[in-house]
Amino acid sequence: LRQSSLVVVANRLPLDDNVAPDGACEWRRSPGGLAGALHAILEQTPATWVGWAGGTGQARDLPDIGTLRLRPVPLSEEELRGYYEGFANSTLWPLYHDAVEQPVFDREWWLAYRAVNRRFAEAAAEVAEPGATVWVQDYHLQLVPQLLRELRPDVRIGFFLHVPFPPPELFMQLPRRVELLRGMLGADLVGFQRPQAAHNVAQLAAKLLGAHGADDAIILDDRVVRTGAFPVSIDVAEMRTLNARPYVVNQAHQLRHDLGAHKRVLLSVDRLDYTKGIEHRLTAYSELLRDGRIKVRDTVMVQVAVPSREQVESYRGLRDRIEREVGRINGEYGRVGEPAIHYLNQPFDRADLAALYQTADVMVVTPLRDGMNLVAKEFVAARRDDSGALVLSEFAGAAAELSDAFLVNPHDVDGLKETLLQALAAAPEDLATRMKAMRDHITSHDIHAWARAYLTALEQSQALVP
Ligand code: UDP
Ligand code: G6P
Repeated sequence: LRQSSLVVVANRLPLDDNVAPDGACEWRRSPGGLAGALHAILEQTPATWVGWAGGTGQARDLPDIGTLRLRPVPLSEEELRGYYEGFANSTLWPLYHDAVEQPVFDREWWLAYRAVNRRFAEAAAEVAEPGATVWVQDYHLQLVPQLLRELRPDVRIGFFLHVPFPPPELFMQLPRRVELLRGMLGADLVGFQRPQAAHNVAQLAAKLLGAHGADDAIILDDRVVRTGAFPVSIDVAEMRTLNARPYVVNQAHQLRHDLGAHKRVLLSVDRLDYTKGIEHRLTAYSELLRDGRIKVRDTVMVQVAVPSREQVESYRGLRDRIEREVGRINGEYGRVGEPAIHYLNQPFDRADLAALYQTADVMVVTPLRDGMNLVAKEFVAARRDDSGALVLSEFAGAAAELSDAFLVNPHDVDGLKETLLQALAAAPEDLATRMKAMRDHITSHDIHAWARAYLTALEQSQALVP
């Protein structure tokens, strides 16, 4: 058995075992912000990543990625339903995102969630060297810190939540709220995207566990659990290298040509998820077309909506509604050879995304709630000059950092319409000032700065335990 001094534990491995229609298997990069962000920092660090490889049944052998070893945790059909689709994505995900979709509470799912969390903790305990650092990620694995502490009191345990932590009145709805809170507080350092989350957890720890809770530390069972905000980011250097690649530059020219050289391009890139506000955005766009305030002969929208969690009921319903609405908008306002919206229900690789970001005049990122939203940061990093506008929801974690974006409340459709028009009409000097400020911010707050800040705080956190 090979052991590591740094172990990352996340539901997904950075490679997804993808079965093609002809039954052949291939490995491809996992969806979502978490896998991409950690992949970027671990590629050059000797470490082990414990996680699920996608699919069900016995995992096959996985290739190392540079110095990163992959340790798969297989899931059965039943576990996939109860743990991943059920408790993680039908209970916690909607609840943690302001219950914009009704969370479902199912007692069977909890059993699967607990059993799978235990298996992840055991796998981590097996591969961690004595005194290792184990960094547990996200809402799927909220019980792992405490379970791991029981198995391996010698290791240093970090936990980072990539999604929002809800206000106490929402968290209190969870039938297993005490176990979930205790599980997470098994870590030495619990990191969040925003300071408000640490505040919420401190309040809950006092109320539910009788702990002494402050916004930066909680004293529980004679242990000090440090808490704090560490906003996640992107690999800015990688993005810049990508920007300059001839393929990306050519692709951006081609896209511009295909979309219409004279047209203003609005772009959105999301997983097809109800938290992303895609329907609100389509309503705003459609009303602007209806009112004649934008016209298909000079404006076009590109919506990338990557398939996500397709076995979960609420996601299927969402896809149906979005596709019907896109069809309606194109049917009513499109012209031959000139659709109002290009809708792409497929994943794009990083080079093609960079080309899309470079082509957009206005990037529209309007989630109803989002832990961070890395797409917003990627758009800023992908620009090769100071042009381009970012319309950004106030309810994305990124809004706290990118305050020079055109900030908007996506629930307010009239406000959204006005903000889209304002971004389309903004003067180049205004856009340049905004873009420079946002670029400066992400350059000094990239993914490496995030990992350094978190891991340094984790190292110091244990030193402080009495
Ligand atoms: N992404 C991708 N291909 C796509 C669409 C998105 O690789 O076709 C990536 C995107 O570059 C970003 C991540 O998926 O790094 C999405 O992260 P974000 O934080 O915006 O949202 P999440 O999906 O994690 O909720
Ligand atoms: C969000 C979550 C991640 C998750 C990703 C993709 O970013 O915070 O933990 O991996 O979405 O979702 P999926 O269900 O495909 O892993």
